[in-house]
Amino acid sequence: MILLTGATGKTGFALAQRLSRQGTPFRVNLRNSEQANRFSGMGCDIVVGDLTKPQARRQALAGVEQVCLILANFEGQQATEQAIIQEAAEQGVQRVVKLSSIEAHPDIKARIPQSHFQVEQSLKASGLDYCMVRPNFFMQNLLANMPSIQQNGSFSYPAAGARTAMIDIEDVADFMAAVLQDRSLRDQSFDISGPEILSFEQVATTIGQQLGREVAFQACSAKDLEDKLKGYLDPWQTEAVVELLSDLVLDQSARLSDDFEAVLKRPPRSLQEFVAGSPAFN
Ligand SMILES: NC(=O)c1ccc[n+]([C@@H]2O[C@H](COP(=O)([O-])OP(=O)(O)OC[C@H]3O[C@@H](n4cnc5c(N)ncnc54)[C@H](OP(=O)(O)O)[C@@H]3O)[C@@H](O)[C@H]2O)c1
Repeated sequence: MILLTGATGKTGFALAQRLSRQGTPFRVNLRNSEQANRFSGMGCDIVVGDLTKPQARRQALAGVEQVCLILANFEGQQATEQAIIQEAAEQGVQRVVKLSSIEAHPDIKARIPQSHFQVEQSLKASGLDYCMVRPNFFMQNLLANMPSIQQNGSFSYPAAGARTAMIDIEDVADFMAAVLQDRSLRDQSFDISGPEILSFEQVATTIGQQLGREVAFQACSAKDLEDKLKGYLDPWQTEAVVELLSDLVLDQSARLSDDFEAVLKRPPRSLQEFVAGSPAFN
């Protein structure tokens, strides 16, 4: 039995669909029972609970062999993931597959990848088998720019000159499903990226070609982005996202990796394929 956390989220739901198609026994943890109908017909166990709470962690992990650890970025993410790992070790779980970040390394200052790095360290020290799946920037992040693209023909990040090798979440889910299936993969870290390093100007051109209109990337200030996010995110998340996007200028996401193709024996999808296949751009 695999416990899938974050199953209602973007990556988690895509992964649940794959596990269901494979006929892999799995359990999803939901915070809100009203989300349960999204999983009807998938043949999975459903448990409801807030994983910041010890009782919910115990209940979710009972009888589980593997955990697929995916959680949202929030102030308690690091502590919650570390508590899940500790509980997993106590309950005799064999392997944890963690969704981390390609930017998670000891010198990173931005709090989100820093917290992924700390969780990776805890997982490595736990004695559990592990696989770290460390994706680059998600192509789906671009969808949040659609209102601005529709209204102004442009989008902006505080990231002048930045480049990324962004990856499609559908590929992240394919990759995680393959890793969960292959129990011979243990104590490994996989950096997964898309097939090309692109500047945001090139991203804008690709989106514009798909939409049939001119789209521009305009670098903004960190303060501009902060003002924009304030209405949607809590103060911790606002600061965390601003610092993450501002750090793109450090070019740490301008990195290609062969790990995706080595496991899946096919190249990851390009941005052009992503926008061509996404209803938001059609
Ligand atoms: N965006 C990127 O470019 C990028 C790149 C690399 C790595 N990542 C990492 O990917 C992860 C996010 O993946 P995603 O975008 O697929 O996630 P997402 O769509 O934000 O979904 C997050 C999931 O976490 C669940 N959750 C949050 N708090 C919870 C709690 N206390 N108890 C139980 N469940 C809880 C949410 O449940 P509810 O539905 O109840 O809210 C939801 O299912 C983050 O760790 C991020 O750092 C992102």
